[in-house]
Amino acid sequence: MGFRRLVILTGAGISAESGLGTFRDKDGLWTRYNLEDVATPQGFARDPAFVHEFYNARRRGLREAQPHAAHQALARLEAAAPTGSVLLVTQNVDDLHERAGSRNLIHMHGELTKVRCDACETVAEHRDDLSTGSVCGHCGGAGFMRPHIVWFGEMPMMMDEIYAALDACDLFVSIGTSGTVYPAAGFVEHVRRRRRAHTVELNLDPSEGHSLFAERRYGAASAIVPEFVDRLLAEGI
Ligand code: APR
Repeated sequence: MGFRRLVILTGAGISAESGLGTFRDKDGLWTRYNLEDVATPQGFARDPAFVHEFYNARRRGLREAQPHAAHQALARLEAAAPTGSVLLVTQNVDDLHERAGSRNLIHMHGELTKVRCDACETVAEHRDDLSTGSVCGHCGGAGFMRPHIVWFGEMPMMMDEIYAALDACDLFVSIGTSGTVYPAAGFVEHVRRRRRAHTVELNLDPSEGHSLFAERRYGAASAIVPEFVDRLLAEGI
């Protein structure tokens, strides 16, 4: 098929087999927590200690998780392709893509392993617990630290770069996402409008937008993603 510019979107489903929960599957995170309480600025303002504990538990869980064959296959694809020709846009806040070796990566919903100071806007690596008394290593302010996560009602990150890549791509692949949260859920339509790119969905079950994809494969990411990458590499992307 000889693709030259690839954009790959991932969601929680690619990390499910690493033991990290998804959001909307059976016993997913949003079946156990009210997202308004833990994933909105209003929820954080209402009870910052509760929100810190929610993300502290997810950060601790991340230490036990390992990338699996799907993360590794995407890193292999990037390494085998010409530099810069594969952009990985993830909705996930885990660091499993980095740990598998992916480099050309955008975390549009932020990162669990980073924190931000609301006083000086400094973003820093932080893998331990955070609390309402945490002090900013840059400005020394206390009580202004928050997870570097995009909450509902906030603007996802690096959207200009993402849309520029979607406009230039000739292959768009969506992996492990239910296609329910915008703007990511609208990427496939954005790509189709230009009628120049092939679109593929790789998921456990059909997503909300499954009918918009030219090609669809269903199964566990650890099986279908390496298969798909091997086929791309064999055909010479
Ligand atoms: N392999 C492949 N796909 C899987 C697997 C698996 N092993 N397990 C689950 N899935 C699929 C499910 O079929 C579902 O379509 O992953 C998807 C998970 O959907 P969600 O839980 O809605 O997660 P996601 O689409 O990433 O959510 C998007 O919503 O709450 C916000 O910010 C949060 O980034 C998240 C966004």
